[in-house]
Amino acid sequence: MGETLTILFLAAEAEPFYKVGGLADVAGSLPVALRGLSPKMTGGMQLDIRLVLPLHCTAQSEPQSLLRTNEFPVYRRGGSIRAQVFERDLNGVPAYFITGQPILNATSIYSADPAADREKYIFFSLAALELSRRMGWRPDIVHANDWHTALALYTLRARRGEAFFSRTAGLLTVHNLPYMGGDASDVLAAYGLAPLFEENLPSWARSQPLPMGLWAADAIVPVSETYAREILTPDFGCDLQDFLKQRANSITGIVNGVDVNAWNPLTDRRLAATFDADSLGGRLENKTALQKKMGFPIEARVPLLAMVTRVDQQKGLDLVFEALPKLAEKPWQFLLLGSGAPQLEAAARSLQAKYPERVQAVLRYDANLSRLIYGGADMFLMPSRYEPCGLGQMLAMRYGCVPVVRATGGLKDTVEEGKTGFLFARADVDEFVEALQRALGVYASQEKWRRFQRNGMKQDFSWTRSARQYATLYRCLVPEAVPDPE
Ligand code: GLC
Repeated sequence: MGETLTILFLAAEAEPFYKVGGLADVAGSLPVALRGLSPKMTGGMQLDIRLVLPLHCTAQSEPQSLLRTNEFPVYRRGGSIRAQVFERDLNGVPAYFITGQPILNATSIYSADPAADREKYIFFSLAALELSRRMGWRPDIVHANDWHTALALYTLRARRGEAFFSRTAGLLTVHNLPYMGGDASDVLAAYGLAPLFEENLPSWARSQPLPMGLWAADAIVPVSETYAREILTPDFGCDLQDFLKQRANSITGIVNGVDVNAWNPLTDRRLAATFDADSLGGRLENKTALQKKMGFPIEARVPLLAMVTRVDQQKGLDLVFEALPKLAEKPWQFLLLGSGAPQLEAAARSLQAKYPERVQAVLRYDANLSRLIYGGADMFLMPSRYEPCGLGQMLAMRYGCVPVVRATGGLKDTVEEGKTGFLFARADVDEFVEALQRALGVYASQEKWRRFQRNGMKQDFSWTRSARQYATLYRCLVPEAVPDPE
């Protein structure tokens, strides 16, 4: 009893400070959920978790009321670089923000120049690890996320000879395997990191941050159980499947949760009408508001299909653009919200031009509109080619919007065919059309549809379950305390 585990949690972005992708949702809420676990849920352990982020130079996201707390040099060939550290609180979790020249040089969280990003994130990873030593706060676990912070684990392994880090374990959460960081040989050499010789890794991977982190990590956590299995196969393994298979004993899938307080249809003031599973009628007001806003005919019984997504090849938008014309005979309206790849955006615009009465592509990020969509649209489409976890389908279910998704990764683990949504197996337009037809068939019966909505709304997507799984894993990684000699 009374044992405290210390966890240094590193990420490139975290809500509410910075948000580009799903990583921000996880890094902004998982540490808070971990901190909030009662000792009863952790077998008597207290979790002292601290979040470290880069101090990005994006004007709109500069965290307010920062306290400067530390400053130290980070070795770089030809002259070390000063890291400065600022601090503030995130719902009880201390959050540290690191800056220094490579971070100051960048104008956005992720840049179009991969080389600049590599230097920035490698500097950040090294500085974050060093910060714990400067603070004299010894982490039991360094928890890194994706390629940006994976090298903290590689460095950790190199520094295990130091008494300070000798008992620290490394955990890497994989949110998106294909993004590996690219060849970082130059930057690694500049920061004095020894090259990796590991026969089990393909040679191209030995100088890329994510594979190096996968090699160094004591535990690897893909963000769903299905994705954890998928990355061991050629279709999803990005040519690391053979290496990952050898590490299979260290891989544990843990599905993400959602922030159920921030996403609650009963209290969401950005909806036209709030509602819950027992007052689903309120959804119609949201649907009407949405149809009005989009210039669609206001039709209560015409199913409104929607996507809120990064416009990216990953998300299977091409399948949507092909599937909808095949269903042209049926009544539906389709709304896409999100931005990204120019080619896919152009395809969305031409679909809209073809069906101006029933297709709207809103090609930007709009947090308010996304809430109205979850709370007012009837079906949420996610025909992803791969989906490590996925957040939209969980938010949609929470708001009574029924998901139609590809059975992959976290989508497969969170949506249940015939109960909470509709799934199809292959990334194939005919299979998708079939799933949509099943959904439209059920939609025709209001009573059956309500059952799907209620089932989805009753699911527990809170972080508590995932946080407990992480806590158990942390505990397994920490060596038993060695009793002091006399
Ligand atoms: C990435 C993945 C997504 C996942 C998110 C958070 O954006 O593509 O599936 O939900 O990370 O883990």
